[in-house]
Amino acid sequence: MQLLVRRMEWEDLERRVAWFNEPSVFEHMVIDIPLSLARTKEWFHKRVADPHNLDFVFDLANGGSDTRRCAMGGLTDISERHSRAELYVVVKPGMYGQGIGTAAVMWLCNYGFLEVGLRRIYVQTVDNNDGARRLYKRLGFIHEGVLREHIRHHGRFVDRHVQALLQTDWATQPWREEKQVQLRVDVRRGSG
Ligand SMILES: CC(C)(COP(=O)(O)OP(=O)(O)OC[C@H]1O[C@@H](n2cnc3c(N)ncnc32)[C@H](O)[C@@H]1OP(=O)(O)O)[C@@H](O)C(=O)NCCC(=O)NCCS
Repeated sequence: MQLLVRRMEWEDLERRVAWFNEPSVFEHMVIDIPLSLARTKEWFHKRVADPHNLDFVFDLANGGSDTRRCAMGGLTDISERHSRAELYVVVKPGMYGQGIGTAAVMWLCNYGFLEVGLRRIYVQTVDNNDGARRLYKRLGFIHEGVLREHIRHHGRFVDRHVQALLQTDWATQPWREEKQVQLRVDVRRGSG
């Protein structure tokens, strides 16, 4: 299975809204639901004008019209001064457990360290998101701590976990790219 990577476009927003309004996504992401297309368009309008965020879509190279767009993700709050960014990833609900999330995170890290020149990529996950934390841990992210009751998440104050991969951690990972990232990515069997 292969993924094709491209920047997010206006035509992806309807799909983004549909995915984010699914419980398997909104239970793990800090968003207000229901998410509307109008609010997402406002978000994207600001987003495309702001160089501190990069949003990507991962398409299955041989996917049909229903499975073609299989993940979205990005690097946000990119700080030149601190040479760091936050990473996020969302796989299409119903397509979990096939290695797509792992492949997307690997690609985003390779892109961040090689093309953006970052020194640190971090992720923040809500308390109930053990699955995502396992994925990041397998890829070498170090658990740095818990921000206790840091966010209000669907009416409850919940803990937020921080994990990060430094450029020096990434340099020792078997999955890292050496030179430049490709826009075609292999999803490896058992890559999780
Ligand atoms: C977290 C998330 C991105 C994971 O995506 P995914 O595509 O399911 O991830 P992977 O398939 O690469 O790995 C997840 C599991 O599948 C297993 N797996 C990996 N490759 C596999 C393969 N080729 N075949 C079967 N299973 C596989 C892994 O062992 C892993 O198992 P585990 O949950 O027991 O640890 C996805 O669940 C998601 O989008 N969640 C909602 C949004 C979210 O929480 N995002 C993260 C916060 S930023």
